[in-house]
Amino acid sequence: LNTISEELIASIRTIPDYPKEGILFRDITTLLSDPRAFRRAVDALVQPWAGSKIEQVAGIEARGFILGGAVAHQLSAGFLPVRKKGKLPFKTIEQEYELEYGTDTIEIHCDAVKPGEKVILVDDLIATGGTAEAAVKLLRSAGADIVAACFIVDLPELQGRAKLEALDVPVRTLVEFPGH
Ligand code: PRP
Ligand code: MG
Repeated sequence: LNTISEELIASIRTIPDYPKEGILFRDITTLLSDPRAFRRAVDALVQPWAGSKIEQVAGIEARGFILGGAVAHQLSAGFLPVRKKGKLPFKTIEQEYELEYGTDTIEIHCDAVKPGEKVILVDDLIATGGTAEAAVKLLRSAGADIVAACFIVDLPELQGRAKLEALDVPVRTLVEFPGH
């Protein structure tokens, strides 16, 4: 009998040298297309908060939208899109973060969070943690109470978890892969 982690690991496809040489790309589209793995991943992500009053689930564009929508539905919470710069139509607040080369910026609408609202952050994967850290800062600056951040995949060598824990954000991940 496979454990949930073994089943999820088996459902994730690894593509060597994508998007560049030396990178092992962990592709969750194969998890998403597997009905049983998709349900088990979403169920496992929400399990600690079933029955608690989470008001919003914030998903990070783009892959965090797929999971965040499912998680929000499961928790009967709202969904809050954290978008790449320039996509949201109303007034926004933004947060910049470092990439390997240069910077990127994420945004939310200025009225996306009510003060003190309980929010869970969701993304498919945490690598360096730079994206999630920026999302936490952005959501907090809007008044969110970040209850936790959850991800299907952790790449522990890149130490993203520590970045969020340094901000006092509990981190939940379902599977780990060695390497980058
Ligand atoms: C990937 C992944 C996470 C982020 C993790 O998204 O989906 O959002 O990188 O990296 P980090 O922990 O080092 O910040 P990407 O920016 O490639 O975009 P996508 O989700 O739109 O495909
Ligand atoms: Mg992403």
